[in-house]
Amino acid sequence: MHRVKARVESNAKVVHGVHRLRLSSSEIALEAEPGQFVHVLCGENRDYILRRPFSVHRVQNGSFDLLIQVVGKGTTYLSQLESGDALDIMGPIGRGFEFTGNFEKSLLVAGGIGVAPLVFLAERLREDGKETHFLYGAATREGLVCLEDLSTVVQKVFSVTEDGSFGYEGLLTEFFGEAFQEYNPDRIFACGPEEMLRKVAESTAGTVPCQVSLERKMACGIGACLSCVCRTREGYRRVCVDGPVFDASEIIW
Ligand SMILES: Cc1cc2nc3c(=O)[nH]c(=O)nc-3n(C[C@H](O)[C@H](O)[C@H](O)COP(=O)(O)OP(=O)(O)OC[C@H]3O[C@@H](n4cnc5c(N)ncnc54)[C@H](O)[C@@H]3O)c2cc1C
Ligand code: FES
Repeated sequence: MHRVKARVESNAKVVHGVHRLRLSSSEIALEAEPGQFVHVLCGENRDYILRRPFSVHRVQNGSFDLLIQVVGKGTTYLSQLESGDALDIMGPIGRGFEFTGNFEKSLLVAGGIGVAPLVFLAERLREDGKETHFLYGAATREGLVCLEDLSTVVQKVFSVTEDGSFGYEGLLTEFFGEAFQEYNPDRIFACGPEEMLRKVAESTAGTVPCQVSLERKMACGIGACLSCVCRTREGYRRVCVDGPVFDASEIIW
């Protein structure tokens, strides 16, 4: 893990309330694996003592992207950064997705901004020659912020919106069984709201290996403060360093 002052290369508004920050740091770009995150200091004054965690969304020559949904003061600060600004970042941190080994076909399942680490994973799976399908849900068409990017890296995207403005209408979990039958995957990788992850985990239990990326509020981000624990079959584990990706069968929901 490194602590760097990364320079903002660009800050693009993707849709209202979602920004893509491109940050320059060859150390992080070279080491980051899909599912790992960075811990970002969102401002200089005492209002911003705690860093905020964000998944590595993509990497390219010497830089990496974050996909940020604006929900509070830290993410508002990040959304207002300009090219050339510097950002204090620790990372890459945590245990990412395990995607080596003997499998052919995977189904990636993303709810909302949970898509962020799965685009990076989809790119790596494509490099490895794996067949990859995507089940992608959001409240509205506007919330499917990575649809265009995904169409170039995965075989097929199965889209679901709660208001029916694009793809199937309803909750993503209502269509998990259908997508599972259609693609017949031998691995599942999921990121999104915890309730969605729980239902995906329950649907796959005892059939196909399933990995989930969990979210917790984090303070230190380095395994010291225990503010981020989750319950597993082996006891409490720290989401920041023992995760954020876990085998779904380990989690006590
Ligand atoms: C491992 C990990 C990876 C993440 N990756 C991304 C990502 O790629 N893109 C992205 O937009 N967000 C991501 N998040 C969530 C992001 O860290 C929070 O949205 C962010 O910290 C909010 O900061 P804020 O100061 O804007 O909000 P605050 O002012 O701190 O809070 C605003 C609202 O957001 C809620 N909130 C704050 N932190 C979290 C959290 N960790 N989980 C759930 N709710 C929270 C608060 O309860 C409050 O309702 C990730 C979280 C984790 C743990
Ligand atoms: S955030 Fe401190 S132990 Fe995980």
